[in-house]
Amino acid sequence: MIINKLKKKAGWAALEYIQPGNVVGVGSGSTAAYFIDALSSVKNYIKGAVSSSEMSSCKLKNLDVPLLDLNEVDVLDIYIDGADEINSKKYMIKGKGAALTREKIIASAAKKFICIVDSSKIVSVLGGVPLPIEVIPMARTIVSKRIMDLGGIPKYRKNIITENGNILLDVYNLTIFNALSLEEEINNIPGVVTVGLFARRAADIAIISGHQGIKVIE
Ligand code: A5P
Repeated sequence: MIINKLKKKAGWAALEYIQPGNVVGVGSGSTAAYFIDALSSVKNYIKGAVSSSEMSSCKLKNLDVPLLDLNEVDVLDIYIDGADEINSKKYMIKGKGAALTREKIIASAAKKFICIVDSSKIVSVLGGVPLPIEVIPMARTIVSKRIMDLGGIPKYRKNIITENGNILLDVYNLTIFNALSLEEEINNIPGVVTVGLFARRAADIAIISGHQGIKVIE
């Protein structure tokens, strides 16, 4: 319950970064959902929102925030999203909510990426939570083997098909000291669609909501 209050504060704190006329990328998950509430309070001043999941699209529609297709957008001013873990370099693990591929696409297109988290997500070394990987279904076993070669323990996330029609592996037992090279290595395994390591496109700003208030890391 307290965590939800912190998430809500982080979501609303991101509103400060939204400018009139902006195209706003919107992430997924419970913290992003609070940001959507905040965004709806300025819906008449922004150009619209690009959404990373059906869940977020549904909430945006319910709150009458104009939805835009990424293909129709020239400039994506800003992307706001949560994370499962974030370190001091603003590298993140994302994808617990299964929306990692669309999140990564929108993050890569955005001029600015603001990560909104409660302080429990801050880590010194990434890997305390499983690392999600979206995989083409036929490549599940071969990708799992390659992940084991890297020292990870992959677990198939049963009964989940992503919005892109793929499966998810959650990788345990990783202590990620070199996120940039691990992201590249996993991305290069045939059959991998997206790895939920966001280091090559890290966040530009982290808004961290803790018991002492909001802290911003630029
Ligand atoms: C969604 O796929 C994830 O990347 C979320 O950003 C992440 O799981 C954070 O979720 P919460 O805000 O619900 O903790």
